[in-house]
Amino acid sequence: MKAIVCERYGAPEQLQLRELPAPVPKDRQVLVRVHATTVNDYDWSMVTGSPRIYRLIFGLFLPRRPIPGMELAGKVVALGPNATRWRVGDAVYGDTSNGGLGTFAELVAVPEDELRRIPPGLTFVEAAALPHALELAYQALVGVGQLKAGERVLINGAGGGVGTFALQLAKRQGCPVWGVDTGAKLQTMTTMGFDRVIDYKQDDFTQLGERFDLVVDAKTKRSAKELARALTPSGRYITVGGDPGRLISLMFARWFGAKRMHILMLKSNKNLDELAPLLSSGALKAVIDGPYDFHELPRLIRRFGEGLHTGKVAVRGVDVP
Ligand SMILES: NC(=O)c1ccc[n+]([C@@H]2O[C@H](COP(=O)([O-])OP(=O)(O)OC[C@H]3O[C@@H](n4cnc5c(N)ncnc54)[C@H](OP(=O)(O)O)[C@@H]3O)[C@@H](O)[C@H]2O)c1
Repeated sequence: MKAIVCERYGAPEQLQLRELPAPVPKDRQVLVRVHATTVNDYDWSMVTGSPRIYRLIFGLFLPRRPIPGMELAGKVVALGPNATRWRVGDAVYGDTSNGGLGTFAELVAVPEDELRRIPPGLTFVEAAALPHALELAYQALVGVGQLKAGERVLINGAGGGVGTFALQLAKRQGCPVWGVDTGAKLQTMTTMGFDRVIDYKQDDFTQLGERFDLVVDAKTKRSAKELARALTPSGRYITVGGDPGRLISLMFARWFGAKRMHILMLKSNKNLDELAPLLSSGALKAVIDGPYDFHELPRLIRRFGEGLHTGKVAVRGVDVP
């Protein structure tokens, strides 16, 4: 099978398209032909090995798993021992970060429980762009954040995958939503329905004197004290990711009493089946950058890392037209 291979940490341009043996599904795994995948923060960090602290997870000197990619939509082509949940030919999708990984390939072996059935009416590209960012947004706003109708919401890092889903979820509850990001994304965000957009290169949302009931952050860069300034007395702050040092200090702040500061621990694919009717009807959908061809992946990882994308960078599988 063809796959994108990362042999050492460095620029995405050093990635190579290689011919490798097809993986063999192990106990309770299924083999999936990848029809579409996406680029995520995980891929940028895994390929570049930065922030360096992540090398404790990816491999100290070189990536332990050489094929990047964590999100997919595709078809089951073979079943491993004791795999009973799926049949050959089933159209599935999922965030494979709990054990599959390596979706930048023609074929990938995935634990059967990490997959969900693609909701009727969705293309492979549309489905692949959902699991990771939609779950982060849903679990932040609805799960931890307990968003109520009409509450004032601010999304920091709003032009990416999480932000564009968070906007749709908050709008379903009739909430006014502000978004913070930069560059050409600000115009797209206005078109998408953000009530106000802020350029983080010009303004600091914690210094505007504005208060929000819920702040969802995809790129935490500030201290708990600064972030608290942007919250109403009953306001909640939920980060899904960001600067590792800031996340550690937020964790300590929470331990020492800042109970409205939350760090989300993603439960992959948890809510996808319950959201399927909204996805099938188009009431909730991914904002897609692409779809691009598989061989463009090195360039696309750079595009993602430099923040030139809006929404999800989606990629067709090998030889998928
Ligand atoms: N909680 C968990 O369990 C878990 C699991 C996996 C991943 N994650 C995290 O979840 C997040 C995924 O977010 P995503 O997919 O939406 O990422 P994304 O597509 O990269 O979007 C993030 C956006 O934030 C913008 N940004 C960068 N610096 C900023 C700043 N200082 N202030 C405001 N905006 C800024 C980026 O723009 P520019 O690049 O143009 O500046 C980009 O448009 C990542 O942080 C990832 O590490 C969390």
